[in-house]
Amino acid sequence: MIDRDRLRSLRKDEDARFSELHPESAALAGHARSSLLAGVPMPWMTRWPGSFPLFVDRASGARLVDVDGREYVDLCLGDTGAMTGHALPQVTEALAAQAARGITTMLPAPDSAWVGGELARRFRLPTWQLAMSATDANRFVLRYARALTGRPRIAVMDWCYHGTVDETLAVLDGDRVVPRPGGLGPQVDVALTTAVVPFNDADALDRRLAEGDVACLLMEPALTNIGIVLPEPGYLDAVREITRRHGVLLVIDETHTLCAGPGGCTAAWDLDPDFVVVGKPIAGGIPAAAYGMTAEIGERLLGPMLGHEIDVAGVGGTLTGNALAVAAIRATLSTCLREEDFAVVVPLAERFTDGVASVIDAHGLPWHVQRLGCRAEYWFCPPPRDGAAAAAAVDEDLEGFLHLWCLNRGVLLTPFHNMALFSPHHAESDVDRHTEVFGEAVAALLT
Ligand SMILES: Cc1ncc(COP(=O)(O)O)c(C=O)c1O
Repeated sequence: MIDRDRLRSLRKDEDARFSELHPESAALAGHARSSLLAGVPMPWMTRWPGSFPLFVDRASGARLVDVDGREYVDLCLGDTGAMTGHALPQVTEALAAQAARGITTMLPAPDSAWVGGELARRFRLPTWQLAMSATDANRFVLRYARALTGRPRIAVMDWCYHGTVDETLAVLDGDRVVPRPGGLGPQVDVALTTAVVPFNDADALDRRLAEGDVACLLMEPALTNIGIVLPEPGYLDAVREITRRHGVLLVIDETHTLCAGPGGCTAAWDLDPDFVVVGKPIAGGIPAAAYGMTAEIGERLLGPMLGHEIDVAGVGGTLTGNALAVAAIRATLSTCLREEDFAVVVPLAERFTDGVASVIDAHGLPWHVQRLGCRAEYWFCPPPRDGAAAAAAVDEDLEGFLHLWCLNRGVLLTPFHNMALFSPHHAESDVDRHTEVFGEAVAALLT
């Protein structure tokens, strides 16, 4: 249905408009290229649409202002890192107060126990540890799982994403496990480390775990990194039953699905995992993550955790659990991501899906828009059942154009997703602005 020549021509116009609107960012990008690889401190920053990245002057609540003074409705929110909204006064105050009292000591700060208790209350697992990032937390949990079970492999869902964790950057090619396209320099052949199964396929999971070599299944309760793919009714119950029957630990990664409620899908859907991982927004944007475990696992891990060699066990990190991060988690979780916050943000996400669906329907497009709590995402196909079906519908040209059109009109979507996330700082008018510009983009494309 999409005329590719028209798409290319519109994209060219939008690229020109982007360059015209952002002379300061262009100058800073030119300067940064002399000292930073690809002109950015972290490679994903090159993935935004436009021929150079926007440089950000400031961000507050649901708004971001670039160095050219242009303001945006931020629907990306740091790809979930700022899901609470940017620069929350209570977090910045807690940070300033803690920074003046010392940032990192490699000893526990008094707020640590409050943080453990709050995570336990939200996610219904009693025993917690901190990490610097969700990637780190996942790596640590995989190590624990192998240590606890004595089994060599981990299992993941096809087209999952759990951070830059080597074992998880694997997909299925037929029934072979192969490196995920784009993965750089895998340290070990993923076929040796990883079992991969399609999401929403309990039989495939059962067959694979029956081989007896898998320590844990690491999964999101709904896929959120290849569009939103929701679990079919009964699937997650089947996953729990199958993993338990095969002695495989179940690790639920709530880093993105925290959008479903204060305790993620684990609490919202009454899941019963062995480990939970959570990261990104829990410290209001300060790097921090956490992982929780059952009492039984906690007890079994006490031995190694108290061992003299814990510092070389492959779990930890010098700055992990530092006083600043702990203060930030307390300030965030005591004031954000609570039931009353979700009561505000979920209706905004519903309004977004209604608006996008109205555009899709008006043009009779075979696209869909999906929602999980305060996260919503459109995708260029009917709702997929698994990651491979979702991956097959990726259309980078179309996505890049739609994102750039919106960005040029003051609305930021997440790069490498068509994702919109809502904080209590967004207003209905922000949602409507997206519906308007998205509708204009689609109309321009189909005229
Ligand atoms: C589900 C999930 N887990 C873990 C991560 C890794 O988070 P980080 O990059 O903050 O380590 C991500 C990142 O997108 C994610 O989506």
